Amino acid sequence: LFRVAIWGESHGEAVGATIDGCPAGLPLAVEDFVADLARRWPDLPGVSPRREPDRPRLLSGVCAGCTTGAPLTIAFENATARPVDYEQLQNLPRPGHADLPARRKFGGWNDPRGGGHFSGRLTVGLTAAGVVAKKLLAPIAIHARVVEIGGTALAADADPSTLSSLLSEAAQAGDSLGGVVECRAGGLPVGLGEPFFDSVESIVSHLVFAIPGVKAIEFGAGFSGARLRGSQFNDPIVAADGPPATNHAGGVNGGLTNGADLVFRVAVRPTASIALPQQTIDLRTGAPAELRTTGRHDGCIAVRVPVILEAACATALADLMLIEQRLPRIAERR
Ligand SMILES: Cc1cc2nc3c(=O)[nH]c(=O)nc-3n(C[C@H](O)[C@H](O)[C@H](O)COP(=O)(O)O)c2cc1C
Repeated sequence: LFRVAIWGESHGEAVGATIDGCPAGLPLAVEDFVADLARRWPDLPGVSPRREPDRPRLLSGVCAGCTTGAPLTIAFENATARPVDYEQLQNLPRPGHADLPARRKFGGWNDPRGGGHFSGRLTVGLTAAGVVAKKLLAPIAIHARVVEIGGTALAADADPSTLSSLLSEAAQAGDSLGGVVECRAGGLPVGLGEPFFDSVESIVSHLVFAIPGVKAIEFGAGFSGARLRGSQFNDPIVAADGPPATNHAGGVNGGLTNGADLVFRVAVRPTASIALPQQTIDLRTGAPAELRTTGRHDGCIAVRVPVILEAACATALADLMLIEQRLPRIAERR
């Protein structure tokens, strides 16, 4: 019911999102987006030097400061586009990126500049949709954080210099790092989700894999749960109307929320575009070629993902809450 379309290209005019099915009467202003949009640009070593102002323009679906119930379009100008940086990629597709599959899928009509429609730039629209979803969901609280970078675990209270030095070292080596990001949503009603195909895990995963670079997801104990016995994994029931005592299931049983926090982790791959030489082919000749990617890139996508992951989670939960009729179609009555 809460349908999000993401549109634009990394080095085109603009990027953004259109939400169809957003309840009417939700107060919405440009200022609502500021904090989350800033979190998509963390001040850390190796984060792309492309700093877009990311000022949202509410092009449709808002009147007198509130959503109207009609499609809501949020647009962001690409103010610092530099397509010239990517001319070599026309003929030298980046290993690990979408350049070659996109070219083949769209017969060469795709926009190749900086990954075009496949760029991480497009996640500004998803982040904006998440702002709207979070406002609808309040007081349900969603929070994500980086829990591992390049194989090093990062506790919630870890010294920030640990992360900075990992990122700096990889950037100096001309290489990139992957990471794991954990997301938690608290205050959910019991029973969100539908059995089988539209389970909470299914809907959340569907949204989460819209984030470029996400390669895996696990809920609760996840893969480590496969190494536990039932006596260890099962979450003891301690009340008929409250959450279980532990949360190995990640807040979901039978595809339905069970009253515990929804907890999941995603694996984010190391960035494809690196300065080190990589093997590709020259599409003009078919001959092997070496590629050193230039342009403005992130050394570690994972450090930018928390707020985007929250947005994907919020979008999924807004949909599930509308389906369950826990959210009214008119958010505030006049
Ligand atoms: C916030 C964000 C920033 C990204 N920045 C870059 C980047 O600078 N360079 C790059 O090669 N990929 C970057 N990516 C990832 C690519 O868009 C992604 O790897 C590519 O589309 C291929 O998709 P896949 O990795 O999911 O297979 C970024 C992703 C996100 C979410």
